Amino acid sequence: MEKSTEKRVSGTAPTRVQAWQSRHRRLILLVSGIAALLLLTSPKSLFFGASRSQLLPLPQDTDADSSADFRWFSVQPEKHLVYHDCYDKFQCARLELPLDYNSTDGEGPTIAVALIRLPAKVPVTDPRYGGAILINPGGPGGSGVERLLEAGVSLENLADAERDPEQSLEGDRYFDMIGFDPRGINHTTPTITCFPDSISRQAWTLQVETEGLPGSREANMHMLYQRAHTRSVGCSNTMNALPGWENFGNHINTPAVVADMVEIVERHGEWREAEGRRAQEEHDRCHGRGAEALILQRTRHVKGEEPLLFWGFSYGTLLGATFAAMQPHRVLRMVLDGVVNSDAYYSADRFDNLHDTDKILDRFFYYCALAGPDKCSFWREGGEAAIRNAYQRAMDDILENPLLVPGDFQRGPEIITYSNVKELVGRAMYQPMAMFPTLATLLVDVAKRNGSVLAERKSKARMPSYRTKACEDAGPYSSDCQLPDWDIEGPSLAILCSEARGKSNISEPEFIEIASRLRNQSSALGEVWAQYLLGCTGWNATAAWVPEGPLGGNTSHPILWIGNTYDPVTPLRNAKKMAAKFPGSGLLQQNNEGHCSFSAPSVCTASAIRKYFQTGHLPEESLVCETDEKPFIGRVPTQEAEESPRLSEEVNKAVQTFRVVLGGRSLAM
Ligand SMILES: *[C@@H]1O[C@H](CO)[C@@H](O)[C@H](O)[C@H]1NC(C)=O
Ligand SMILES: *[C@@H]1O[C@H](CO)[C@@H](O)[C@H](O)[C@H]1NC(C)=O
Ligand SMILES: *[C@@H]1O[C@H](CO)[C@@H](O)[C@H](O)[C@H]1NC(C)=O
Ligand SMILES: *[C@@H]1O[C@H](CO)[C@@H](O)[C@H](O)[C@H]1NC(C)=O
Ligand SMILES: *[C@@H]1O[C@H](CO)[C@@H](O)[C@H](O)[C@H]1NC(C)=O
Ligand SMILES: *[C@@H]1O[C@H](CO)[C@@H](O)[C@H](O)[C@H]1NC(C)=O
Ligand SMILES: *[C@@H]1O[C@H](CO)[C@@H](O)[C@H](O)[C@H]1NC(C)=O
Repeated sequence: MEKSTEKRVSGTAPTRVQAWQSRHRRLILLVSGIAALLLLTSPKSLFFGASRSQLLPLPQDTDADSSADFRWFSVQPEKHLVYHDCYDKFQCARLELPLDYNSTDGEGPTIAVALIRLPAKVPVTDPRYGGAILINPGGPGGSGVERLLEAGVSLENLADAERDPEQSLEGDRYFDMIGFDPRGINHTTPTITCFPDSISRQAWTLQVETEGLPGSREANMHMLYQRAHTRSVGCSNTMNALPGWENFGNHINTPAVVADMVEIVERHGEWREAEGRRAQEEHDRCHGRGAEALILQRTRHVKGEEPLLFWGFSYGTLLGATFAAMQPHRVLRMVLDGVVNSDAYYSADRFDNLHDTDKILDRFFYYCALAGPDKCSFWREGGEAAIRNAYQRAMDDILENPLLVPGDFQRGPEIITYSNVKELVGRAMYQPMAMFPTLATLLVDVAKRNGSVLAERKSKARMPSYRTKACEDAGPYSSDCQLPDWDIEGPSLAILCSEARGKSNISEPEFIEIASRLRNQSSALGEVWAQYLLGCTGWNATAAWVPEGPLGGNTSHPILWIGNTYDPVTPLRNAKKMAAKFPGSGLLQQNNEGHCSFSAPSVCTASAIRKYFQTGHLPEESLVCETDEKPFIGRVPTQEAEESPRLSEEVNKAVQTFRVVLGGRSLAM
């Protein structure tokens, strides 16, 4: 490519900061809240593999350290899929695609989409090869590459046949898993960030944090509005003035990513055919060609018709639904878990998703009462109601009187505010299994007005940074100026705000009204959510391509939708609505609380998903799956779990891996 897509906005050469990265990742896992996650994460240099999480054990094979040397930018973007070995057992490619699919002269600017493949357990030429499952982890703004590195092995094991290939039976299928970084995100270039360097980002973030969550302090709405507006105007204007990629910010949203996915599956078909040709020739050399040329037949690239197998979470369900509406004939398998209401999303009516959130907070009190003082440290005599009262008292108290934590030999002074605790509460709603016990412990501290642990967490979550010589030399927006972390908020807003059919630029009075509405919807998450959605105000980029009218239609194969009974940001009713728009769809309800089904292990859910990938069969209508573990209580295995120890183990691994991923960066949707 002439134009160097080797840049983030206007970047330069990569830096090596791996130690930083692994350290940093640990810090991120400790960040105390969703808003904090959205605000505190910062841009990173883009050249390293996922490092191992320090918090929870990951399966051995997702450890990418030994090939952390893989450098995305040493790979030349190509118009076809050219895989390079990376991260031990994975293969990486950079696919060159048009920025604007409407510019037909082939001369327009291009992007380089990063994708990573976990090869199937059988060769693509094997009759048991089932195709490539694309994944999207959510966000918007989440990195599919990162998710595949962390969870790819678990996801593949869940989709694949129970038996290893050596013992496979008739009909068993084995899949490739492919993760890709959508436009503007992570290893895909150019990459979005709203700040020229990490230090300006941190300074800004600290100032926003000081204001507190919307409405948590007298008259902070005005200032929060001004801040969000100022940041967004500059970020979007800069993005759209990017030399060589003018109007970049108008071309990064969902339908463009759908078009990229079409390219990915087509290029995959092409690549598979080439592999097939090679295998056939080899076969023929030894055995002579039979008239059937079976390998050629089954690996043939069906141009324009290559099917999609897809597994999307959260925002990934919106991406999947958009694909299904635009390319219905290509849907072969589609599992959409934690479902976004697409009509509301595209029409900027995004303030109506917190209806079940406080029911999760109720479950916190309920499970705590049930579990008793040994398992729930915030337990109170008097049951659920007593625990709820204690919680309410603690929150009321800290709203008036923050915890003052003087500095010591280890760390500087900190003040723990209502907003800090609220962010923690909000985040726990996403991941009750992983977070309720921590939340209970920290609430004990709040109730006792002991801020030492909270102060520790708060100060660790900060990423100290300074402007290095390398950054000075390389200039603003260069990777040398970015911490090896990721500005999740920039790309998230860039996608979210540009595709709200031009209605995302809310005024200050509207913001005040919306914040009030969200607070009324959910005391646990309303303020955090308002803070996030406020980010769209002033966003000055409008997507060139937004689906017209409501999504829906007849897909060539039915979609499997999954919703939890209580999901903090994608309520079950979304899944019901969406399933109805795509005739023949299946709907699976998982009876638990948290965001997406991997918030808790359920062998019932896992076997339904496996069966769907293996055979295409949907679960029986109105199937409700129980989980095999409850917050505070621990394992309560269902009969299915007792009967399938191996699947149970796999689903537990997947949940563990997901905790790391989601727990580390609970994205907004
Ligand atoms: C981007 O990729 C790097 C390396 O794979 C990873 O550490 C980082 O967390 C990713 N960013 C996101 C948003 O997932
Ligand atoms: C506060 O909590 C920490 C950690 O639980 C404990 O070590 C410390 O002694 C407590 N401080 C006070 C004053 O109770
Ligand atoms: C939120 O609830 C309060 C108190 O019930 C009410 O005064 C206010 O109008 C509500 N806000 C919205 C936007 O409905
Ligand atoms: C929005 O962007 C256009 C160019 O795309 C620019 O002319 C205009 O000044 C921008 N508006 C604001 C408020 O920055
Ligand atoms: C957004 O709306 C405000 C008024 O509410 C206006 O001043 C501003 O120019 C608008 N910004 C954009 C980018 O359209
Ligand atoms: C291409 O241009 C047409 C007409 O201007 C527009 O309707 C369509 O949405 C555009 N498509 C893309 C991909 O931008
Ligand atoms: C789906 O197909 C059925 C029968 O073929 C047809 O009646 C219906 O209108 C189609 N629905 C959509 C949304 O296209």
